[in-house]
Amino acid sequence: MTSLVPTPTSTAAADLLDDLRTLRQGVAALPALEPDSYARDHAAFELLSDQRGLIADHLADRMAELGDGPISVLSVGCGDGSLDVRLAEGLVRAVPGRPVRYVGIEPWSGSAALFTAEMAALEARELTVEAHVSSFADASVDETFDVVVFVHSIYYVVDLRETLRSALDLVRPGGQLWVLNAPRAALNELVDVLAPPLEDHRQWFSADVEEAFAAEGITLDDAVTLNALVDLASSSDEVLDFAVQARLTPELRGPVRAYLAAVSVPGPDGEARVPHPVDVFSTTRH
Ligand SMILES: C[S@@+](CC[C@H](N)C(=O)[O-])C[C@H]1O[C@@H](n2cnc3c(N)ncnc32)[C@H](O)[C@@H]1O
Repeated sequence: MTSLVPTPTSTAAADLLDDLRTLRQGVAALPALEPDSYARDHAAFELLSDQRGLIADHLADRMAELGDGPISVLSVGCGDGSLDVRLAEGLVRAVPGRPVRYVGIEPWSGSAALFTAEMAALEARELTVEAHVSSFADASVDETFDVVVFVHSIYYVVDLRETLRSALDLVRPGGQLWVLNAPRAALNELVDVLAPPLEDHRQWFSADVEEAFAAEGITLDDAVTLNALVDLASSSDEVLDFAVQARLTPELRGPVRAYLAAVSVPGPDGEARVPHPVDVFSTTRH
């Protein structure tokens, strides 16, 4: 699958990216984002993008296609649950009385606690919720699910192929595995240049995920791109750091903002927006 939003288009953007690459050559990696501020800056970043709403609508439509019976969902890397709570609420409201089981896996305990608290705040008797405070690789989950979903979390796993295999093992026969991940595209070209490596690997983008599915012999039902836009021109320094997945030094911020301006396109209101696509990979467990 080729993402609908390609890598930097203009010569100016390509030159600015090259300049950043040159600035970073042979110097120590930038500091990684701290777990404590990650969830807060992520939430602020999402407020500048229309992607969260597109994902929520898309996944709610997919869930609606699974019928009216009891349903179980495992969200891997659920974060503070802000997306999952929306989905769980939709499931509960769509079919009153239907049992809904919603399990999250999240390594940061603060985020996992928010996931549990927000789900509890729905006060839905038919909803059972559990959170595993763990990375996916270390989680001990001994049940299968109608849906296993990764939303913007598979970037961080150590071994993509093993992750996809284990995730599919957690899907009941006939159930679905959905992986939502960003393509490299214009924004993530910056991540590639600026983000420090994670446990010896770079962040995995959509092409890596697609390759891992193919290498595991897992056939995709479909792969679609949701074309979102993010307003990074008005972002704080902290949100800019989240966007590039690194703590930037003050002297890098100017060139990063110049690159983002160069890759921007007009949004619906005519203001500059950075393309913020997300790919949705879907497969059924047979
Ligand atoms: C960009 S956030 C997405 C959170 C949530 N899915 C959402 O869309 O709001 C990525 C999440 O993946 C989690 N994460 C990082 N490494 C992980 C791993 N190895 N296994 C599971 N989750 C992980 C992070 O802690 C973070 O909460």
